[in-house]
Amino acid sequence: MRLDKKVYDLLNKQMNREFQASNTYLQMGAWAEDQDLTGCAKFLYKHAEEEKEHMRKIFDYILERSRQPKLGEIPSPKTNYKDVKELFDIVYKEEKDVTDSIHKITHEVWEQKDLTTFSFLQWFIDEQREEEALAVEIVGKIKIIGTQGQGVYMIDEFVGSKA
Ligand SMILES: [Fe+2]
Ligand SMILES: [Fe+2]
Repeated sequence: MRLDKKVYDLLNKQMNREFQASNTYLQMGAWAEDQDLTGCAKFLYKHAEEEKEHMRKIFDYILERSRQPKLGEIPSPKTNYKDVKELFDIVYKEEKDVTDSIHKITHEVWEQKDLTTFSFLQWFIDEQREEEALAVEIVGKIKIIGTQGQGVYMIDEFVGSKA
């Protein structure tokens, strides 16, 4: 059955948002690599790829439900960060916002009794749980280790081990 227009708009917006997240993480990876934070860069590049896969999942789903996905304009990501703490605070906030947004769409399709999309979104709900938990872990470690002296090196090792 063809996707309801409101659900289509929500999914299309989410698809573009995943693409935006991918670009943001790719840019963050470039910043990290530039700072010789190779562990962080590895983690962020991998994450950027994953976000692109999320985008593609929604893209394919919209097509399957007889509508055309519309790629929108993507604002340029920030290129400069104070330190790794600022970087991962932003990652955590981004993931929390995405979780909120996925939950809102899930509520809407539940209201509409669109159980097919409801089922499709379960994967994203689980994925967000994992991504948020990972971001919380990294932000927590940065808090413990601190960004002074060799702290940055330890953080980079830790984040790299999560890639
Ligand atoms: Fe995502
Ligand atoms: Fe994510």
